Amino acid sequence: MRIVLLGAPGAGKGTQCKYIVDRYHLLHLSSGDILRRHRVRGTELGKKAQSYMDSGGLVPDNVIIEMMIGEIGRAPAGGYVLDGFPRTVKQAAGLDKALGDKDEKIDAVLNLSVDEDVIVRRITGRRICPKCAAVYHIENVRPRVDGVCDKDGSKLVQRPDDTAEVVITRLKNYNEQTAPLVDYYNRGDSVYTIDANGDAEDVKELIFSKLDSLA
Ligand code: AP5
Repeated sequence: MRIVLLGAPGAGKGTQCKYIVDRYHLLHLSSGDILRRHRVRGTELGKKAQSYMDSGGLVPDNVIIEMMIGEIGRAPAGGYVLDGFPRTVKQAAGLDKALGDKDEKIDAVLNLSVDEDVIVRRITGRRICPKCAAVYHIENVRPRVDGVCDKDGSKLVQRPDDTAEVVITRLKNYNEQTAPLVDYYNRGDSVYTIDANGDAEDVKELIFSKLDSLA
C-alpha cells in the first residue's frame, strides 16, 4: 500500500504515521525527518535546506523531488506512507511521473484536518529528542520526567521552526502551496479527510477504519 498523508504543520502527521506503519507494516518516509538527518550529518543537502527550514519556508522543489524519489526507490515492496511530501503541486506531479514510470500509483491520500488554534498549541508545545527524534508535547504527550526523553534520557529541545512567529509563516505556506493538493488528488477521488482535532488515539481509530476498508 502506498499512502500520502496530507495535513498542516503540527496536524499530527508524524504521530499518526507511527501507528500506521506498525499496523500495516509500511515504511515511514518523512521529508522533514530526512532533511533533519541530513542537517545532523552536515551534508550539502542539509546545509542547503537549513535556512529554508528554520524560517518556515519550503526547500526548493527540485531538491526535494530528487531526495524523495531516491528514498521511494529504496522502499520495500510492502509500501510506504509519505509524510510531508508532496507539499506542492509540482512535487505531486514529480511523484506521479516517477510512479507512472514504474506502473505504480498512490493507493490512498489521507488529509488530516485540524483547526488553526489547535495547530498552534500543538506546534508550540512540541518537544523532541535531539538524539532519537522521539516527539512529545508539554501537555498532551508528556515524558515520564519533565524535559527528558523516555527512551534515551536526552534533554528534550524545541525545534527551531516551532516558535509562534515561524508557525505563522509555515501555516501561510501550507495554505498557499500545500492545501491545493487536496483538489489535485481529488481528481483521482482517493482523498479521505479525517477530523484530526481529537486526541491521538481517536484520530488513529478513524484512520484505521478508513484504511481497513481499503485493504
Ligand atoms: P516537517 O518536519 O514535515 O514539518 P511539518 O509538515 O510542518 O509537520 P510537523 O512535523 O510540524 O507536524 P506533524 O504534522 O508531523 O505533527 P506531529 O505529529 O509532530 O517539515 C519541516 C520543514 O522541512 C518545512 O517547514 C520545510 O522547510 C522542510 N520540508 C519538509 N518537507 C518538505 C517538502 N516536501 N518540500 C519543501 N520543504 C519541505 O504533532 C505535533 C505535536 O502535537 C506533537 O507535540 C505531538 O505530540 C502533538 N500531537 C499530535 N497529534 C496530537 C493529537 N491528536 N492530540 C494532541 N496532541 C497531538
